[in-house]
Amino acid sequence: MQPKLKSRVKWADREVGEVTRVILDPLSRDVSHIVVGGNGVGTQERQIPVSAFQSVTGDTVHLRAASSQIGQFPAFQREAFVTIREVEIAHLEDHLDVEPGEVLVPVPELERDVKRRTFFTNLTHAIGALLALPLLYPVLRYVMKPMYAPFDNRWIKIGNVNKIKTEDVGVQFKFKKLVKEAFMPEAEVDKNVWILKASPPVLEQVYKGKDMEFRDSTGQVVWVNKRDFPYVVYSGKCPHLGCGYKWRKVPKLGREIFLCPCHLSIYDPSGKVLDGPAPRPLDPLPIRVAASGDIEIIDMEYKAGVKAQVRIV
Ligand code: FES
Repeated sequence: MQPKLKSRVKWADREVGEVTRVILDPLSRDVSHIVVGGNGVGTQERQIPVSAFQSVTGDTVHLRAASSQIGQFPAFQREAFVTIREVEIAHLEDHLDVEPGEVLVPVPELERDVKRRTFFTNLTHAIGALLALPLLYPVLRYVMKPMYAPFDNRWIKIGNVNKIKTEDVGVQFKFKKLVKEAFMPEAEVDKNVWILKASPPVLEQVYKGKDMEFRDSTGQVVWVNKRDFPYVVYSGKCPHLGCGYKWRKVPKLGREIFLCPCHLSIYDPSGKVLDGPAPRPLDPLPIRVAASGDIEIIDMEYKAGVKAQVRIV
């Protein structure tokens, strides 16, 4: 059994403190230490390895040592750790027996002195860039011209609504899209979106009682999603940093949600952020459904990592 946050800490002679944080081993993804603070511990939290555990039962961690030995455990240094949201650990969601957000992993040794080193590296790069700018400007202007081309508002057929069996359940649709990258010829790339047949409460949360307008680069409206149209499509890219996310059942939450495994952003079926670093809800896209049930979308893309929805493609 893994220790839980807020568990009581029972020493060999008496109970002192509680588990204030949990530290994971980033390789094994198991708990390697607990941090003990609170009642009787003093001002300095202590870091205790799992090897000092006698046992873990329910919400109590039993230690072998007596409470008088607390000073022998190292003081907890917050700056030596990052939260699991700040790093990328594959399949971490399979190990989430503890609360996301209050779980730490050690900062790698090489990263600890990074501020000073990166300052001088960045300074050197900045001076180099300033010197090269007059020479590079005409080349950059030619290369970047396609970036200012009008947005791609083509409708793309991606499947049929008969694939969607249940209300408020995310269904992934994969499709191919022709994309033109800068001065390269047009090429086909794999894309995906998530579609819900939304219940009235979810539609209300998505549209807040108003139809949703989509615009091109000139500000002109190219499509309007009606607020009572039951199918909602979300861009397949997480608004945090653009990773692909999944529809997952999380037993701990007792519900199904969209989960981005990169930094553990969690969204409800309406796209609202429930947890994690995502700065905004999932991005809805224009959708229309033919009488045959065929679904078409406009695959718009939005800038990642910012609160506002800024269209870039
Ligand atoms: S890309 Fe960071 S949470 Fe999705």
